[in-house]
Amino acid sequence: MTINTAKLRIELYPTQALKSKAKPVEINDEVRAVAARMIELMQGAQGIGLAAPQIGLSWRLFVAHVPPDPDLEDEEEISELPVSCESPQVFLNPVITEFAGDLEPYDEGCLSLPGITGEVNRPAIVTMKALDLDGNEVTLKATGLLARCWQHEIDHLDGVMILDKMTQMSRLKNRSRVKSMEKAAKR
Ligand code: NI
Repeated sequence: MTINTAKLRIELYPTQALKSKAKPVEINDEVRAVAARMIELMQGAQGIGLAAPQIGLSWRLFVAHVPPDPDLEDEEEISELPVSCESPQVFLNPVITEFAGDLEPYDEGCLSLPGITGEVNRPAIVTMKALDLDGNEVTLKATGLLARCWQHEIDHLDGVMILDKMTQMSRLKNRSRVKSMEKAAKR
C-alpha cells in the first residue's frame, strides 16, 4: 500500500485532479481503504457524495450517501424508483447507460466549492452501470436526489464541475467567490 489514507483530505477548486479525466480503477485493498476513507471524509463534511478526484486521486471511483428524507416519502411512492440509499454506496468505473425523464433544476453544492451553490439542470432518471467493492457489476436505476448525486459525482470523474453546468444566473451570483478561490490557490 503506497497511499497513506489518513493523510487524504478534500481538496478545493481549482486543483488539477478536479479538471482531469480520471482513469479506470481495479479493485484491490488499497482502493478499498481509499473508499473507506472517502466515506469518512464525506460524512465528516456532511456531504452526500465524494469523488476520488476531490481527494486528489484521478480514479474513476465515487462514494455516495443520500439518506432518506422523511418529507419526500410521497415522491418515492409515486416514482417507484429509489431517491435515497440507506447506507453509503461505493462505485468503481461508473457509466450512465440511460438518461430519462425531464430536465429538472436544483440548487447544487460541492464539497470542493465551499460557499457556492448553483442551479444545475439534469435528467430526472438515470440508469448506472458500475462495479461494487466486491468487483461485481451492478446496474442501478434512480431518480430524485440520488440520481442527481450520481450524475454530479460521475461528472467529477470527467473533470466537470457544477461551475461548468450551472445556469448563467448562478454563474453571475458566484463569480466573485470563484475568482477569490482561484486567487487563493495561486498564493
Ligand atoms: Ni462535487
